[in-house]
Formats: sequence, C-alpha cells, structure tokens
Amino acid sequence: MCFGHNVFATPSVQTAFVKTYPATKNTVLDSCATCHMPAISDSLNRYGAELVFAPMGFKEIEGIDSDHDGVTNIDEIKALKNPGSRSENPEYFVFTNRKGTVDFDHEAHVLGANYLINGKCAICHGPGKFPRVYNDDVLVKQFAHQICWRCHKLSGSESAPRECSDCHMK
Ligand code: HEC
Ligand code: HEC
Ligand code: HEC
Ligand code: HEC
Repeated sequence: MCFGHNVFATPSVQTAFVKTYPATKNTVLDSCATCHMPAISDSLNRYGAELVFAPMGFKEIEGIDSDHDGVTNIDEIKALKNPGSRSENPEYFVFTNRKGTVDFDHEAHVLGANYLINGKCAICHGPGKFPRVYNDDVLVKQFAHQICWRCHKLSGSESAPRECSDCHMK
C-alpha cells in the first residue's frame, strides 16, 4: 500500500489500518484510540503522528517504537497492544505507586460535562503540569496532589474523590 499524508482522511485511515493488519478487526486496535488521544478530538498520539510523516504508510513505521516502551510497533500490533501509548487503554491510566493504585479516566475528564473541563487541556498540561506522555515509571505525585485534588475539592461534586483511600486503591 502506498499513500501520501494528504490522502489520509478519517475514519478511512482506520479502515486502511485494519486492511493492512486483518487480525486487528473488531479488537481494541480497531479504534480511533489506536492513533488518537483523546479519541474524540483530533489530537494524534505518537503512532498517529509518525504516520503523518510516513509516505509509505504503515509498513514504513513497523520497525519503529513510537511510544518508546521497548517494543516495536509491529510487535505491539501483533500482540494487540497500542503502538502509540504505554497505557493499557490509551484513554484510561492506572498509576501504580506505593500508596495504592490510582485510576484516571482521561476521556471522561476531557469530555464529560460534569468534570468542568470542557476540552481545556491546559488545566492539566503545560509547563510545570502533567507531561503529555504517559509513563508509569515517572511519578507525578506533586502535580497529582495539586491539580487533581484541588479541583476535586473545589468542584463540590460528591463523585469527585478527595479522601486518600477514594483515589488510592489497594
Ligand atoms: C490508524 C491510525 C488512525 C486511526 C485508527 C484513526 N485515525 Fe484519524 N487520523 C489519523 C492521521 C494520521 C491523521 C492526520 C492526517 C494528516 O494530518 O495528514 C488523522 C486525522 C484525523 C482528524 C483530523 C481531521 C482531518 O481529517 O483532517 C480527525 C477529526 C480524525 N482523524 C478523527 C478520527 C476518528 C473519529 C477515528 C475513529 C473513527 C480515527 N480518526 C481513526 C490516523 C488515524
Ligand atoms: C484532568 C487532567 C487532564 C486534562 C484536562 C487533560 N489531560 Fe491529557 N493527561 C492527563 C494525565 C494525568 C496524563 C498522564 C500523564 C503521565 O502519566 O504523566 C495525560 C496524558 C496525555 C497524553 C499522553 C497519552 C499517552 O498515551 O502517552 C496526551 C497526548 C494527552 N494527555 C492529551 C490531552 C489533550 C489533547 C487534552 C485536551 C483535549 C488533555 N490531554 C486534557 C491529564 C489530563
Ligand atoms: C485526587 C486523587 C488523590 C487523592 C485524594 C490523594 N492522592 Fe496521593 N496520589 C494521587 C496520584 C494521581 C498520584 C501519582 C501516582 C504516581 O505518580 O504514580 C499520587 C501519589 C501519591 C504518593 C506517592 C507514592 C510513591 O510511590 O511515592 C503518596 C505517598 C500519596 N499519593 C499519598 C497520599 C495520601 C496520604 C493522601 C491523603 C492524605 C492522598 N495521597 C490523596 C492521587 C491522589
Ligand atoms: C478540572 C477539575 C478536575 C481535575 C483537574 C481532575 N478531576 Fe477528577 N473529577 C472531577 C469531577 C468534577 C469529578 C466528578 C464527576 C461527576 O460529578 O460525575 C471527578 C471524578 C473523578 C474520579 C471518579 C470518577 C471517575 O471518573 O472515575 C476519579 C477516580 C478522578 N476524578 C481522578 C482524577 C485524577 C487522578 C486526576 C488528576 C490526574 C483528576 N481526577 C483531575 C474533576 C477534576
């Protein structure tokens, strides 16, 4: 297959992906989130971004490790893991740490009306805030306790966790 980047239109990129890798049909990789983060907006993850500059398409970036997790894109695709994210589910992060794991639903926080964010990425991303790279080896405690906790307190929502054990689950 051969196509230039201006030929990409969506969701036909997804159709082309599944045609190239038939084993991904109806799996977790048959999804906008394989290349997009967050899935609904048009922001690309690192696999998607690499695709934009790959004139030969998917095959050209098979040997690359887009999300730098030590596994090449093609090996991740074969294993039905996301080549553009280290997270198990690219819109859902689980932070593991000594205090107890913390679940974070990125998609809900970005798009959910109740979450008070309305697509304003800068509430959480920017200098001195969360990196736009999910990496569970990097502790983000100082940002988490400022940004997450503060908003939960101020939100007034009963569903926004603010006790240690509401966020940190054993
Ligand atoms: C296999 C990778 C892949 C999948 C899966 C995928 N996209 Fe894309 N998408 C891209 C790439 C790459 C671009 C950027 C194209 C460019 O800049 O040339 C893009 C661009 C877009 C854009 C920007 C607008 C445009 O077309 O110029 C939107 C919106 C979009 N995708 C939505 C979606 C949605 C919704 C889905 C799921 C139904 C989806 N994409 C699935 C790779 C993908
Ligand atoms: C409520 C806080 C919050 C908001 C709002 C938010 N993010 Fe994030 N985002 C995070 C956190 C936390 C991570 C994981 C960072 C880490 O592990 O260091 C993350 C990770 C990411 C990643 C990396 C994904 C990966 O798989 O490596 C991207 C890309 C991203 N966000 C884009 C966005 C965009 C675009 C928006 C706005 C539409 C947005 N985020 C809004 C908190 C947020
Ligand atoms: C709003 C959710 C939230 C609440 C409430 C919260 N935390 Fe956290 N905490 C986090 C997140 C997210 C991290 C970052 C985890 C990471 O980087 O892996 C974190 C990190 C930590 C760490 C670092 C763990 C390590 O391995 O070094 C400690 C310790 C901790 N929290 C203790 C507490 C205590 C004690 C409380 C209550 C007084 C509390 N937290 C309340 C979300 C929360
Ligand atoms: C801009 C404000 C804001 C920020 C920043 C924010 N949250 Fe929330 N979060 C909320 C609100 C509001 C709710 C409750 C939503 C509702 O009422 O349905 C919530 C709910 C939650 C919940 C319970 C429901 C769910 O989605 O699973 C968890 C867990 C959570 N947040 C974790 C986090 C973590 C971890 C961070 C930081 C990485 C964070 N939040 C950052 C506003 C925020």
